[in-house]
Amino acid sequence: MGIQRDKTAEEMQEAGATSTKKTERLVDAKASAENPSEQVDEISLRPTTFVDYIGQERLKNNLKLAIDAVKKRNDGTTLDHVLLYGPPGLGKTTMANIIAHELGANLRVTSGPAIERAGDLASILTNLQNGDVLFIDEIHRLRRTVEEILYSAMEDYQLDIVIGKGPAARSVRLDLPKFTVVGATTRTGSLAGPLRDRFGLIHRLEYYKIPEIERIISRTAKLLGTEIAEEATHLLATRSRLTPRIANRLTKRVRDFADVNGDGMIDTKLATGALDLMEIDELGLDPADRNMLELMLENYGDRPVGLNTIAALTGDEASTIEDYYEPYLLQLGLIERTPRGRAVTNKAKKHLEKA
Ligand SMILES: Nc1ncnc2c1ncn2[C@@H]1O[C@H](COP(=O)(O)OP(=O)(O)OP(=O)(O)O)[C@@H](O)[C@H]1O
Ligand SMILES: [Mg+2]
Repeated sequence: MGIQRDKTAEEMQEAGATSTKKTERLVDAKASAENPSEQVDEISLRPTTFVDYIGQERLKNNLKLAIDAVKKRNDGTTLDHVLLYGPPGLGKTTMANIIAHELGANLRVTSGPAIERAGDLASILTNLQNGDVLFIDEIHRLRRTVEEILYSAMEDYQLDIVIGKGPAARSVRLDLPKFTVVGATTRTGSLAGPLRDRFGLIHRLEYYKIPEIERIISRTAKLLGTEIAEEATHLLATRSRLTPRIANRLTKRVRDFADVNGDGMIDTKLATGALDLMEIDELGLDPADRNMLELMLENYGDRPVGLNTIAALTGDEASTIEDYYEPYLLQLGLIERTPRGRAVTNKAKKHLEKA
């Protein structure tokens, strides 16, 4: 059992870093990819077993059952392919690690954008061993030619490759070891139907409940060796966008603030001071979120606006808006999606007036 991070894993992180170059928001889900120290923290704070993985009970119960069944059968069959989808920072990568850990299997890590050619995928697949878990992050970004190879690999554990060019080209079929793909994506909409159909277990990760976020903050504070009062934990939880990654990030920033301005225990006053400094409001919105809502309001009122227009207004990429800003704003009912675009709601107007 072990985690093998090979070239593809590095490429994957690079891909993550470049695709979000423009995003400078404090709570940006991918900011850690650009900041090595945060990356280390993210790895050390990452739960490694079902017991440590807080919340997502339905997902955990289903996976536990499936994994127990595989272990009990012990006849060489492997876990069905698993597709995890949902907004950034809710624990997809973490769950992929846990699945491998609980199966006692090797985890191989790659990502959609890292696999450029069919040959890259072929080399990953032929290097797998029986029972390995292959984690493919951002699976919606696989190229079509690569995706088609993956179909038969996932379904029949066979690899069809063409060797040579022109008239001399011939197709060969290779047997592959039995492996499990864990795919992660922030968007299922962009996943081709045939690919989706090859996953036996498909799960959406939900936003966490406040008490779950509180438990995550307490756990993180403990791991960081910081004491935090109950009310301060609650306050941070309400500002964490119901997202573990952000809860962890806020906890770390508040700890820094407390190290400089306090003496020991993080209380509500220190937590409030840190949140004010970060300009995170009662709903957990940061300046970038408010800026987007304000620009939409100023320019279009409550009329629907297309995604690309919003992107042009804020200077972000449309995919950044769709993946990082929008899901939480939709969850809170601050914007709504209509056939003609996104519209700012009354609730958002009231919130901005208050601020
Ligand atoms: N259920 C959980 N319990 C405790 N901590 C969690 C949980 N889920 C996530 N975390 C923490 O949040 C961090 C972010 O989670 P993770 O990287 O798995 O998110 P993700 O869904 O893969 O995000 P992305 O879509 O951006 O890749 C992890 O490092 C981990 O510390
Ligand atoms: Mg991830």
